[in-house]
Amino acid sequence: MELIIVDNYQELSERAAMLIVAEVEAKPRAVLGLATGSTPEGMYAELVKLNSEGKVDFSGITTFNLDEYAGLAPEHEQSYYYYMRHHLFNQVKIRAEQINMPSCDLENVDQFCFEYDQRIAAAGGIDLQVLGIGGNGHIGFNEPGDQLRVPTHLVDLTEDTILANSRFFSSVEAVPKQAVTMGLGSIMLANKIILLAAGKAKAEAITRTVSGLITTSVPASILQLHRDVTIIVDREAAGLLS
Ligand code: PGA
Repeated sequence: MELIIVDNYQELSERAAMLIVAEVEAKPRAVLGLATGSTPEGMYAELVKLNSEGKVDFSGITTFNLDEYAGLAPEHEQSYYYYMRHHLFNQVKIRAEQINMPSCDLENVDQFCFEYDQRIAAAGGIDLQVLGIGGNGHIGFNEPGDQLRVPTHLVDLTEDTILANSRFFSSVEAVPKQAVTMGLGSIMLANKIILLAAGKAKAEAITRTVSGLITTSVPASILQLHRDVTIIVDREAAGLLS
């Protein structure tokens, strides 16, 4: 794992955007795995800026998002589809048919999940996967527990996650209790992974992610087995590293 400690959020966003631009330059038809949440917002802003300056072209890429809340329609302002349109898809030239989002629809969800992984494989696999990390060590919505699931699946969100994400909703009760997420197998099959973390609420999770131990209580710790992971953290998120 390569660990890059930066001074602030702006630098984190620029470094992450640079890695994506390099990937798309090297492979204009790159398959990108994309993350939502507050952490990558600055990275998307940077990508939109670089695109408007003609420094990167997204017209050939294919995207697969990591996760989506169950039951939130694509038009819902807190759905991850809405987020992606707002932060990237509506701001750059990218072909709609090349955008892949997990379904928010609970009908036939198992079949959807199976087909989502098949779609990733049919696209040639993910070249570069962007990840955030939960304060509880989750990646995507792969929550800590006794077991971790390999394929894309429907997951019950933990109380920690519901509480953390309630800042985006009118109340804790309004946060969906389930989500569809890529599994750890789907994530680990990506050629390259970048994980972003900012703020001291992520410091313990980051420390446990790079600790040399793998535990299902910190799902991100499995990334230690991946051969090409770059972790970009600000000073606060790096604050507990020795
Ligand atoms: P955040 O979420 O970027 O909003 O902190 C990250 C995550 O929960 O994976």
